[in-house]
Amino acid sequence: MTQSTWHEEKPVHAAIIMDGNGRWATARGMPRIAGHREGVEAARRVIEVAPDLGIRALTLYAFSADNWKRPAPEVSGLMALVEYFVRREVERCERQGVEVLAIGRRDRLPRSVRAAIEEAESRTRRGTRLTLRVALDYSSRDALVEAAALAGPDCASREAFAYALASVQGTPGRRLPDVDLLIRTAGEQRLSDFLLWESAYAELHFTPTLWPDFGEQDLRAAMRVYRQRNRTFGGLDPLPALPAAYNGSQRRLA
Ligand code: FPP
Repeated sequence: MTQSTWHEEKPVHAAIIMDGNGRWATARGMPRIAGHREGVEAARRVIEVAPDLGIRALTLYAFSADNWKRPAPEVSGLMALVEYFVRREVERCERQGVEVLAIGRRDRLPRSVRAAIEEAESRTRRGTRLTLRVALDYSSRDALVEAAALAGPDCASREAFAYALASVQGTPGRRLPDVDLLIRTAGEQRLSDFLLWESAYAELHFTPTLWPDFGEQDLRAAMRVYRQRNRTFGGLDPLPALPAAYNGSQRRLA
């Protein structure tokens, strides 16, 4: 099996920066929150189809630590939507084997959002078909600083650091999954402080589609492109098998 077919078989961790909700709503003369509401439905579509496409972990960027800078009504609207989404989806997730986890700070979230998350985490903890991580009040750089403090000067391996990072991100004891495929919608091409450590070798996929319009076909297209990427992780492709009558000069000419 060559390296490029090898990763076709490997379960994928996809992470999505769900951008363009505001533009979607504004283009329709609607309030921005209407775009976020449609964004929830797009998230549902993606969660539904992800396991069938070989995705075993999916991290959605729902609210960044910098999103607190938005006007208060948008922030409270977003928090209400997150709570609505988590409460509405928990039963389906439980039934479909989807484990729900939140990453990010919890202490600044409204109490009812925290409670909804904790209930979802506890009810879905046996799910094995898909791990759905919702990034909330999330800043990768803040998490890295905190993890460095927690890991301390004697931290001797990437593995040990990764556990410290999982711990400060709200999922202690969990193995931190590397991101294989990072998708950002709405034509922007930035990481916006999202999963910086985990995305060290992520394949990046940018699409002009606004998040509320994103659906199964868009995810399939992203996965198709991903499957065609040649991932060598800084190494080299394995050389094709050499002909039986190989000699050094043939090799140089090839
Ligand atoms: C970016 O669009 C989107 C967000 C800041 C919020 C994303 C949140 C949701 C889709 C709702 C919650 C979802 C889940 C899965 C819990 P933007 O507002 O920056 O769009 P713009 O760039 O067009 O203004």
